[in-house]
Amino acid sequence: MIVGFGNVGQKMAAMLTEERDKYPGLANLELKPVAIFTGRHGGLVNAQGIDLAQALKQYRGSGGFPATPLTALQALETLDYDVLVEISTLDIANRGGLAMAHVRAALDRGKHVATANKGPAAFAYRELAALAEKKKVRFLFESAVMDGTPIFCLGRALRGVRVTGFSGIFNTTTNFVLSRLEAGESMASAVRTAQELGFAEADPANDLEGWDSSAKTAILANFFLDAGIDPLRVDRCGITGVTPDAIARARAAGRKIKLICRAWREDGQVRAEVQPREIAGDHYFAMINGRAAALRLEFDMLGPLWILEENPDLLDTAAGVLQDLLAIAGEG
Ligand SMILES: NC(=O)c1ccc[n+]([C@@H]2O[C@H](COP(=O)([O-])OP(=O)(O)OC[C@H]3O[C@@H](n4cnc5c(N)ncnc54)[C@H](OP(=O)(O)O)[C@@H]3O)[C@@H](O)[C@H]2O)c1
Repeated sequence: MIVGFGNVGQKMAAMLTEERDKYPGLANLELKPVAIFTGRHGGLVNAQGIDLAQALKQYRGSGGFPATPLTALQALETLDYDVLVEISTLDIANRGGLAMAHVRAALDRGKHVATANKGPAAFAYRELAALAEKKKVRFLFESAVMDGTPIFCLGRALRGVRVTGFSGIFNTTTNFVLSRLEAGESMASAVRTAQELGFAEADPANDLEGWDSSAKTAILANFFLDAGIDPLRVDRCGITGVTPDAIARARAAGRKIKLICRAWREDGQVRAEVQPREIAGDHYFAMINGRAAALRLEFDMLGPLWILEENPDLLDTAAGVLQDLLAIAGEG
């Protein structure tokens, strides 16, 4: 069952249908949705399976689906399906919002979950991971941080090695805006450019005020450090207070300002923060410009490991969800 059919849902559908020949790794993945739901653009329900190519054509052609008698939550609680693909809108203000109920309902019925929505793992990782374990199903969210970059499956592949902390630059919009500020552009103009290029939200507050970064930091801290925290417990400051003067002063000193996300253990507790920081010009973080993202993992028995992501787009996000589905299908 697919809940959310926006950018990610439609890209995933396109990859599995009209673009399929480009991705031989998807050859064994046959997805037969029994329902597709949106928020305000109707849905489709068909117990025999929905033709994804037709559904995509219908959505594009008529700008939506017909109204459905069931809500997504009612369908998740009553219909027959194997996997929930939760790709609805992130709702930070309501602690994950309906997506939490969707994921909880699916796991509770012993259904696997693959989600790119940050809400569930950011607000209730411990509870949902425990529920998935109890029901012997997977709760996977590879695209929730750094799109399809294999971070969580890397974590699951570690044997005996413990992550002791991490730092990173996770939010494309803020990193892009900071790079533009350095080049002398104003905050308003840089945000407008990010919107025109299609990766900043119409309301960019979640990004600029650090909420998106806090959600990703909470997910990583929950997954790697068993922090049991949520985005509200991340010590958060966005970039709205970063002035052109501060950028110019940093540049004059050969430094850069970046929105750095961190989590570490201190006095038996996990601390997490998202803060604009001045970075030395020769630090790896100083080279993460524009739309790039980076994660530095620290371990007890390995040296630090860097994962850099260059200019991710929708393909990466959809690919992450498909990786989760392949893992659920037993292909990885
Ligand atoms: N885009 C990316 O590159 C990216 C990267 C990483 C993670 N993500 C996450 O992936 C998710 C999907 O992203 P997106 O870019 O596809 O978002 P999007 O284009 O805004 O699409 C969201 C979809 O969710 C639907 N929806 C909203 N509330 C719903 C509800 N209560 N029940 C059922 N459907 C609902 C929307 O329907 P309506 O249009 O009818 O409201 C829409 O179809 C988000 O959580 C996002 O944070 C996205």
